[in-house]
Amino acid sequence: MLKVGRGANAPPFIVMDVIAAANARQSALAPGDPAVIRMEVGQPGTGAPAGAVAAAQAALRSGDPLGYTEAFGRRSLRERIVSHYRAWYGLAIPTERIAVTVGASGAFPLAFLAAFDPGDRVALTSPFYPPYVNILTALRMRPVILEAGPETRFQPSVAMLEALDPPPDGLIVASPSNPAGTMLHPDELAAIATWCDRTGVRLISDEIYHGLNYDSPIASACSVSGSAVVVNSFSKYFSMTGWRVGWLVLPDDLVRPVERLAQNLFISAPYISQVAAEAAFDCHAELALNVARYRRSRDHLVRALPAAGFSRLSPAEGAFYLFADIADRSNDSAAFCARMLAEVSIAVTPGVDFDHARGNRFLRFSYCGSEADMREAGERLAGWR
Ligand SMILES: Cc1ncc(COP(=O)(O)O)c(C=O)c1O
Repeated sequence: MLKVGRGANAPPFIVMDVIAAANARQSALAPGDPAVIRMEVGQPGTGAPAGAVAAAQAALRSGDPLGYTEAFGRRSLRERIVSHYRAWYGLAIPTERIAVTVGASGAFPLAFLAAFDPGDRVALTSPFYPPYVNILTALRMRPVILEAGPETRFQPSVAMLEALDPPPDGLIVASPSNPAGTMLHPDELAAIATWCDRTGVRLISDEIYHGLNYDSPIASACSVSGSAVVVNSFSKYFSMTGWRVGWLVLPDDLVRPVERLAQNLFISAPYISQVAAEAAFDCHAELALNVARYRRSRDHLVRALPAAGFSRLSPAEGAFYLFADIADRSNDSAAFCARMLAEVSIAVTPGVDFDHARGNRFLRFSYCGSEADMREAGERLAGWR
C-alpha cells in the first residue's frame, strides 16, 4: 500500500458541502417554486469593481505576456498598498514589508511556516475560520482553542491569554471576524498586541474584513505592533474573490523568510489579478455602495431575525455575518440547517465548521447576497418554526 501523508487528513471545509446541498436543492425545484436564498456563502454577490475589470481587459489586449512577477508582486501594486495604509490608517509602511499573495489563503501557509515550527502552539478563539485550524494542523502545528462567548463578543481578551500556561508561540486574531461578525476595538487590539510583544508571542492579524465595519473605527495590528504579521485580501471589501489576490504586511524579521517561501511555493500571484487589484484602489465610490447595501441588510436582519425566533445573535459589527445561538430551538445545527433548506429554501451554515465543541447549537447567516433576498429571507423565516 502506498503511503498517504497526514496532511491528506485535513478535514473538509463544511460550508463547501452546504453550498453543494443548496445547488442540488435549487436544481430540484419545480418551475415557479421560490428560488433558494443563499445565506451560506461568504462571498460578495457583486463582481470586481468596473475599474478593476477594465484594467484587466486593457492588460489582456495590450499584448503584455502576463508572465510571473517578483514573488512579492508588482512594485506598483505594493506601492498602492502602502498608499492605502497611509490613507486608511495614517501609517507609513515601507514597500519592502508588503508581500502580494494568492489571496489571504495563500498568505496563511507563508506566515505560519515563516513564524512557527512543527509542534508550536498557536492560540485562537472559537468560533474560528476553519482553515486556520486545518492549515496549522496540516503543517503539524498545534492549535490552542480559547472558547469565547458573547461576554467578549466572541473575541479573545488579555485575561484569556494570561490564563494560558505556558504562553503559546503564536496568536491568530480576526477583526471583524468570521463567523461572528464581531470586532476587536482599537483599544482591545492594542492591549492584545502589547501583551503579545511583552510575552514573545507572534501575533497574526487577519484583517480581510477591514472596510466592512459599520459602527466603530478599525485599527490595524501594524499600527500597534512592529512584530505582528497582517493578512489582508482583495476578496471581501474589494469584491474580488475569484481573482485570488491578497497581501501580507510583514515585520522586518520575516520579510526575507517569507520571500524565500513565496518564491518556492507560489512563484507569484496571478499577474492579471495584480493589475486589476491595483485599479481597485481607484474604485472606492463603487465599493462604498456595496458597503451601504450590507449595512442596510444587516440593519434589516437584526430586526427580522429576532422576530422570527433567532433572538440570540452576535453583535453585528462588521463583515457580513450573523452568528446565531439556536440552543432554544435545536441541539443539532446541521439537521436544523438541512430542514431550513428543505422547508423554506434558505441555505445557512451550521456552526459545527467554526466551533467543534459548541457548533451544534449555532449557525451562521451571511448577508452579502442581494438586498431583496435578505428581505425575503426575513419574511420566509417569520412563518417558519
Ligand atoms: C476570515 C477569513 N480569512 C481568510 C479568508 C480567505 O480569503 P481569500 O479569498 O483571500 O483567500 C476568508 C474567506 O472567507 C475569511 O473569511
